[in-house]
Amino acid sequence: MNSPLPQGTAPHSTEPKLFQPTRIGSIDIANRVVMAPLTRSRADEPAGDVPGSDMNVEYYRQRSGAGLIISEGTQVSPVGKGYMATPGIYSDAQVEGWKRITAAVHSAGSKMLAQIWHVGRITHPDLTGGAQPIGPSAIAPRGVVAYTRNGKVEIPVPQAMSVERIAEVVGQFRRAASNAMRAGFDGVEIHGANGYLIDQFLRDGANRRDDTYGGSVAARCRFALEIVDAVVAEIGAGHVGIRLSPLTPFNDLADSNPQHTFDHLVEQLDRRSIAFVHFIEGATGGSRDVPGFDYAKARKSFRGAYIANNGYDRALAIDAVESGRADAVAFGRAFIANPDLVQRLRRNAPLNTPDPKSFYTPGPVGYTDYPSLEQQTEQA
Ligand code: PHB
Repeated sequence: MNSPLPQGTAPHSTEPKLFQPTRIGSIDIANRVVMAPLTRSRADEPAGDVPGSDMNVEYYRQRSGAGLIISEGTQVSPVGKGYMATPGIYSDAQVEGWKRITAAVHSAGSKMLAQIWHVGRITHPDLTGGAQPIGPSAIAPRGVVAYTRNGKVEIPVPQAMSVERIAEVVGQFRRAASNAMRAGFDGVEIHGANGYLIDQFLRDGANRRDDTYGGSVAARCRFALEIVDAVVAEIGAGHVGIRLSPLTPFNDLADSNPQHTFDHLVEQLDRRSIAFVHFIEGATGGSRDVPGFDYAKARKSFRGAYIANNGYDRALAIDAVESGRADAVAFGRAFIANPDLVQRLRRNAPLNTPDPKSFYTPGPVGYTDYPSLEQQTEQA
C-alpha cells in the first residue's frame, strides 16, 4: 500500500491552507499543523535528565510530519524541574542528547523548537535535588500535588525570589536559548503558560509582590519581558515565541483581570517583533468556553504569527486558518496517539485514541507504539 500523499509534497492549490507551507518568524514550515509541547517523562533521569535515547529519537522522528514540533517542556535548571524524568537544557550532555533528536527531525523535513521551562512553585525538593521551590511570593498552590519516587507528595510553600534570584533565572533562560541553538533547534518557545514560573509572575493569584515585579500589570509582566529580551538578545526575535494561557485554572492560578493583564503583555511582545504567540484557548486540556478573554483581539494586536491550541479538531483547525483567526494550530493529545497526524488530517482519516494511563510512564508503550495509518492498512 503506497498511495498516501508523501508528506512535504507540493500542496495542491485546493488543499486547505492548514496543509500549506508558511513562515513563522525566521522559520519556514511545510504545513501549519504544530505538535504542541507534551511532557512524557521519558528522559534518562539518573544520568541527569538527559534526552536523546533511541526511543526519544524515534518518538519525535515518527511525528515529524508536523510542520513544526515544539519539544516537551525542558527545564532551564535543576530547580526548574517539576516532574519525574523530564529533560533539561542546561548541561552539555543534555545538549548532545537534543542534537540527536533535532537531527532526526530535520532529516525528516520538519522544524523543531525547544520549549524552555521553569516550574517555579509547582515542584517539591525530591524533584529539584533538595532545593526549595521558588516563586514570586511565598504562596503555595492549593490542591496541587507533586509526583516523586516516593509517591504523591504535598507541595511546600515556595521561597519568594529576591531580585538577585530573578536576574539569575533570567540568565538561565538565556543560557537555555543559547544551548537550544547549539543543539540544532530552530528556536525556542518560552513557557509562559499553565501556572508555571513566568505565569506565576503574570497573574496576581500567585504574585503579591510590592516591588518592581508585582502590583501593577506592567510590573507583573516585567519578569516575562526580561526573559523575552534576554532570549531575543541571544538568538534573535525571529527564533522566539511564547506560550500563554490567560484563563487556565491549571496549577491553581488565576488573574483578577486577564484581559487587562494579557492585553498589556501582547502589546509589549508585539513591540519586540517575536516570531509567534501560542495561546491555550480556555482551560488547558478542558473546555474552550471559558469567559474572560478575547483571543481575536490579541491576534489583531500582534503582528507575528498566532498559534492556536486546545481542543481543536480537523474542522475547527481548517476553519481557524482559512478564516485568518490563526496562522497555525497546535495539537497535543492527538499527536500522542497519531504519529502521522498530518496525513490523517489531510485525508480525513480516523484517529487513534490516546491512552492517558501511559502519558507519563517509562518505556515505549504508549510512546512509540501507536500505529500509523499505513501500518494499520497493512494489518487490515
Ligand atoms: C504536565 O506534565 O502535566 C504538564 C506539564 C506542562 C504543562 C502542562 C502540563 O504546561
